[in-house]
Amino acid sequence: MSARHFRGAALAALLLLAVASVSAADASAKCKEDEETADAPRCQRCAPDGSKCLQCWPGNGLSSSGACVPCNVTTEHGDRCIACDGEDPSFCTECRPRFGMGGATGYYATAEGECSTCPDSYCKNCSSLSGACTSCNRWWGAVDGVCRPCAQEQCLQCDGDVNKCTECGYGRFADPVSGRCLNCTDPHCADCSEAVDKCASCDSGYTQDKASGRCVACAQGCNSCDTAGAGRCDKDSCDSGWGFASSGACVRCSAHCLDCASETKCTSCDTGFGLLKDACESCGTDCDACMFDGSGKPQCTSCGGSSGLDVATKTCVACKQPHCLSCMEDASKCAGCIEGYRMEASGACEACKVANCSMCDDDAAKCTLPVEGYRVTASGGTEACTVDRCGWCADAPDKCESCVTGYNLDTNTNSCYACPANCDSCSNKDTCLTCADGFWRQGGTGLCEKCQAGDTRTECSP
Ligand SMILES: *[C@@H]1O[C@H](CO)[C@@H](O)[C@H](O)[C@H]1NC(C)=O
Ligand SMILES: *[C@@H]1O[C@H](CO)[C@@H](O)[C@H](O)[C@H]1NC(C)=O
Ligand SMILES: *[C@@H]1O[C@H](CO)[C@@H](O)[C@H](O)[C@H]1NC(C)=O
Ligand SMILES: *[C@@H]1O[C@H](CO)[C@@H](O)[C@H](O)[C@H]1NC(C)=O
Repeated sequence: MSARHFRGAALAALLLLAVASVSAADASAKCKEDEETADAPRCQRCAPDGSKCLQCWPGNGLSSSGACVPCNVTTEHGDRCIACDGEDPSFCTECRPRFGMGGATGYYATAEGECSTCPDSYCKNCSSLSGACTSCNRWWGAVDGVCRPCAQEQCLQCDGDVNKCTECGYGRFADPVSGRCLNCTDPHCADCSEAVDKCASCDSGYTQDKASGRCVACAQGCNSCDTAGAGRCDKDSCDSGWGFASSGACVRCSAHCLDCASETKCTSCDTGFGLLKDACESCGTDCDACMFDGSGKPQCTSCGGSSGLDVATKTCVACKQPHCLSCMEDASKCAGCIEGYRMEASGACEACKVANCSMCDDDAAKCTLPVEGYRVTASGGTEACTVDRCGWCADAPDKCESCVTGYNLDTNTNSCYACPANCDSCSNKDTCLTCADGFWRQGGTGLCEKCQAGDTRTECSP
């Protein structure tokens, strides 16, 4: 090889090296996998050559060049967006539910690229574009895109077929063959969701016997004995009103006593009672908690209801200001006002000057919350909702948003129709969601049945 050729080849090799190192640097800069726990995770999975991202974490859109772009949907419910167009991060393609106390609220991505609540209010997940429901909240099943009540009373999940339960309530097993809820074989089993005769956990007050797998009772007045074993009680696991005795059993405390060291030595009293010589004695009218002085006279420390503590006498006296909901120590200042009044800095309650107003926070002449059936106007006045039986019409008097108890809103006609008898809220005129006090909801029909004496259903216990 001539010197000239050699120089040429070396140059080419150098160039190649340079190009290779540049593209390697490029690739490493292009895709980085983030941990899910990262602050704002972007790429979940990079291509093997590191040139681009293949899958982004929720909340990002994948651009055509393989970059993850954070979604930025500024329309209402935009925070529900979990996937968007990588070229236009303001256009949402998938939304996620919001979980709350009563279950989940489902959202779906509309054709406009916005997140909207699922059309069916019991739906927790519905399809993008169509809004057809795919899964419903507890007690409801998604059938043909809408939620219907599960046929069996104890059924929690029946998506696909209301007669086929896939998850049953406490102490029951969803039989995959019949789709029915069967009582756990063991009468004291709380969870047999895996198999009807396989208990995963026992009722409170029972423990699983290791040899037989059966649920066996703890000591009387005891809620847990997993460590101590059957017939005994775990330390400090006695029911309220029972005390943990050194023998490992629970002893019944004396009257009005919540916790005790023995039958005769109370350590904590019920509301309205204080400890006097190891027993619970009444604290006196309106007093929630007290101590007793040397002569056995109660010294109140906390008053209940609309009374306050008179510091001099250590007794509860009516709040000294009118219209107090409750008052602060020494009873001269309100701690809260009754409906239709606002609290002044001085601790007095001033009447809202606007009619049909339930709350006026900073200015008595400006309503902040109307009474049922009214709305607050831009100037802080109130006006009646015009739709019959409408309870809430925040935006306009003729646009009802929810109806009074016992009625449900038909969004198509903007009118309120009556729920079935004895029903507080319903999903349609035949299907109750929550029954009035003293009634229970029958799963199969969705109607409310009257509680009978001795009925142990939760809805029927006082
Ligand atoms: C989100 O979009 C809005 C309007 O399109 C824009 O003003 C804003 O800068 C964007 N925010 C981010 C973080 O990109
Ligand atoms: C909602 O449904 C979609 C499609 O069936 C599914 O991929 C997603 O995991 C579901 N989301 C939830 C929160 O159940
Ligand atoms: C299932 O248990 C409940 C009590 O939890 C009882 O009222 C009912 O009769 C039982 N059903 C069957 C079929 O044993
Ligand atoms: C609304 O205010 C008017 C005038 O004060 C009163 O007659 C009416 O009873 C009020 N309605 C309700 C529901 O409070």
